Amino acid sequence: MKNRNILLCVSGGIAVYKASALTSKLVQAGANVKVIMTESAREFVSPLTFQALSRNEVYTDTFNEQNPKVISHIDAADWADLIIVAPATANIIGKLANGIADDMLTTTVLAAEAPVWVAPAMNVHMYDHPAVKRNISVLYQDGVRFIEPSEGYLACGYVGKGRLEEPELIVERVREHFKEPEDDAPLKGKHIVITAGPTREAVDPVRFFTNKSTGKMGYAAAEAAVRLGARVTLISGPVSIEPPVGLYQFLPVQSAADMREAVLSVFDSCDMVIKTAAVADFTPAAVSDHKMKKKDGSLVIEFNRTADILKELGERKTHQLLVGFAAETQDVERYARRKLEQKNLDMIVANDVKAEGAGFGTDTNVVTFYFRDGRKRELALMSKLDVSFEMLKEMTALKAGDRKPV
Ligand code: CTP
Repeated sequence: MKNRNILLCVSGGIAVYKASALTSKLVQAGANVKVIMTESAREFVSPLTFQALSRNEVYTDTFNEQNPKVISHIDAADWADLIIVAPATANIIGKLANGIADDMLTTTVLAAEAPVWVAPAMNVHMYDHPAVKRNISVLYQDGVRFIEPSEGYLACGYVGKGRLEEPELIVERVREHFKEPEDDAPLKGKHIVITAGPTREAVDPVRFFTNKSTGKMGYAAAEAAVRLGARVTLISGPVSIEPPVGLYQFLPVQSAADMREAVLSVFDSCDMVIKTAAVADFTPAAVSDHKMKKKDGSLVIEFNRTADILKELGERKTHQLLVGFAAETQDVERYARRKLEQKNLDMIVANDVKAEGAGFGTDTNVVTFYFRDGRKRELALMSKLDVSFEMLKEMTALKAGDRKPV
């Protein structure tokens, strides 16, 4: 992490003392560290501690503009390669989730484009409170990553989940985040876009249509691609698993329309796309503003077709390699080959979701690869991570021209 700029945002909880250890460890690891403290954080530890450890002046007040040439919260936001909010209190999580910007910490985070990691620390019951959970879920959907608190003795006397993660482990994650791929990493320099999970198509404010996808295949593909040195953008529908460490970008989405927009925003700059997502083919024609009330008799909902994202990419592609997934319950080869042709893909990964060890929610899969030159390659039952390594090997060969892409 040499010469990486890390902005450490410290809010007020007893764990502020651990944030000072974190500052020291980040600096020792070679990072440039600047610290922002909230007023409450300063009740626990003096800014001088952080100034001495970071060897930088500590920001405490939005209006304390020392340098007339810059606006300090914008300057700090632009400077950062990574922002870590640690410890993050329930209050600061609530403010960030709601876009409140009433101090130096919150205005800076709102102005930043760098990835934001939040490391909560609070009483176990506070961490469990529906309001905190709701705010965490909102931030998660905004693309914020969380460093989960660990379990143990809490300053309030309770034992449970709420302790700020140990500084050593946070530093490890930062190191992972900034790790440059080895020079001989097979996918070094390649930008891969991976879509994962289901989509949700709303019909009213509390109801939606979705499917059984858990995101496991796409998340495994993202992990494998990161390990092989790629720059990975993971675009994910709502799932309950954690994104792998080391992603370049994580873009959470809800509906098929959101997913299309996210994919198109990165398509021009990428080299390969892997579409594992189970995208809804239909979406309710009208979304009610209010919860639909039950009535006697049956309910008829009209659906419209969603855009076929992969087909659109197939029409637009210039240099990008496109890989689709086909989950089928019958006639797997015929349907898979048809999708390969119709969507103008380079390769399709097909599975019979009814087969033992394959399909939704499992950690394993049984797949066959189909290519445009008529080849096919059947794989035995293996983990989704191993399927991903095999898939990426094939993609690398296609991209290198060992086998001709379409
Ligand atoms: N796909 C997509 N956009 C859609 C539907 C599917 O990008 N609106 C992508 C999926 O991510 C997958 C591939 O197309 O990579 C095949 O998806 P699948 O659901 O198996 O096929 P469909 O094209 O929806 O065809 P069908 O419903 O007839 O099986």
